[in-house]
Amino acid sequence: MTRPFLCRIEELADPGTRNVVLGEGDDELDIVIVRTKSAAFAYVNRCPHQFIPLETFPNHFLTEDKRFFVCSGHGARFHLDTGKCYSGPCLGKGLDPLRIAEENGALYLDEALSPEEIARSKRTNRRW
Ligand code: FES
Repeated sequence: MTRPFLCRIEELADPGTRNVVLGEGDDELDIVIVRTKSAAFAYVNRCPHQFIPLETFPNHFLTEDKRFFVCSGHGARFHLDTGKCYSGPCLGKGLDPLRIAEENGALYLDEALSPEEIARSKRTNRRW
């Protein structure tokens, strides 16, 4: 299976995020990619509290000090490098991590399942 391209690593500030959506409709996989301390991580853009996307405004995923993801729903904060909840209503839970691979400065989704299969298993409640 061809690994879906996500973005070039130089497009990400450090720390910084980028939102990538693969597929459409019910098969849409909404991904947030973060770069921190020179490493990149990717998660399904879905808060484990109410299964809505984390951001209200495009690409606004981080706390002001850029140390955590923050959910605009009810303020849950998540570690950048693990996705585990640090504070808020979903303590003990976390963002769903996605495997990524870097090749020649480009990041690719590196999962056994297709983006559509992942999207179907991780339904997101849309706010808009
Ligand atoms: S929906 Fe994310 S904290 Fe409530």
